Amino acid sequence: MSQPADTARALGFGTVVAGVRLPFCVMNASGSAASAEEVRALRRSRTGAIVLKSATVHPFVHPGFRSLHNPGFDKLLPLVRDLVRDGDRPVVASVAAASTDEVGFLAKAFADAGATIIEANLADPWIERTLAPLDDADVLRDVATRLAAAGRPCWVKLPAHVPMPYGTLSGILAAAGVRAVVAHNDFQGFEKLLLEAAPPLDVVVAGGIRSGFDVVSAMRKGACAVQVGSALRAGGPGVFARLEREMRKVAALA
Ligand SMILES: Cc1cc2nc3c(=O)[nH]c(=O)nc-3n(C[C@H](O)[C@H](O)[C@H](O)COP(=O)(O)O)c2cc1C
Repeated sequence: MSQPADTARALGFGTVVAGVRLPFCVMNASGSAASAEEVRALRRSRTGAIVLKSATVHPFVHPGFRSLHNPGFDKLLPLVRDLVRDGDRPVVASVAAASTDEVGFLAKAFADAGATIIEANLADPWIERTLAPLDDADVLRDVATRLAAAGRPCWVKLPAHVPMPYGTLSGILAAAGVRAVVAHNDFQGFEKLLLEAAPPLDVVVAGGIRSGFDVVSAMRKGACAVQVGSALRAGGPGVFARLEREMRKVAALA
C-alpha cells in the first residue's frame, strides 16, 4: 500500500533542502507539535519532515519565553531515535543555545541520536538576548561552524528582523557549510533575502502559511519548502493533506 509520503512525491510536490530530499515541500514549524504524542501523530500525516520543538541544554520553563518551553534536550533524544527508527520522514531537531559551546553540544547530541537535519533557532527573543548571533559576524561564524561540525545537513531559523546584511550572512553560512535558512514570510525576511543573499541559500519560509495558495506563492517566489505552525495547531495533522489538495487545484488553474 502506498504511504502518504510516496503519494505527495508522485504528485511532484517533493523538494530538496540542504541536500535532503523531502517527500512533500510542506512541514510543521518548530513548536507547532509540542508533546511527544503530537509529534508522533505527524507520522500519519503528509508532512514532508517532522520538526521538533526547540530544545535547550537545561529544561526551560521561564514564563516570559513561552515559545521555548521544553523539558531539556536529553528528554527529546529517545523520541528522535524512535522517529528515525520507525519513520519514513526526515527528522529535524531544533536547538536553542545561549552560547556557541551549547550550539555545538546540542547539534552533536541530536546528530548522534540520528536526526536528519539540525535547525538552529536564531529567531527567538531569548537567543537574540543571549547568544545574539546576528549582531556579530564572528559569533555567527562560530555558530555556523559548530553546527556544521555535527556532520548533518543544517539550517538556521532567522528572526523577522535580521540586523546583519544578507550578503554578509549568506557568505558566513555558506563558507561554514550551512546551506539553508528558515526565513520569515514577509518582504524583509524572505524576498529581500532572496534578492541579496550571495551566494544563494536554500530558503524555507515560515509564517502565515494558511492555504495551498500561500504555499504555491512562496514556492513560485523561490522558496524550497514552507513550514506551518498556526494552521497545524488549528487544523491538526490533516492540514498537510488539505494544503496538498489546494496546491493541486492551484496547479490545475495555472
Ligand atoms: C506556542 C508556540 C511555540 C513555538 N515554539 C517554537 C519553538 O520551539 N522553536 C521555534 O523555532 N519556533 C517556535 N515557534 C514559532 C513557530 O515555529 C513559527 O515560526 C510561528 O508560529 C510562525 O508560523 P505560523 O504563522 O505558521 O504560526 C512557536 C510558536 C508558538 C505560537
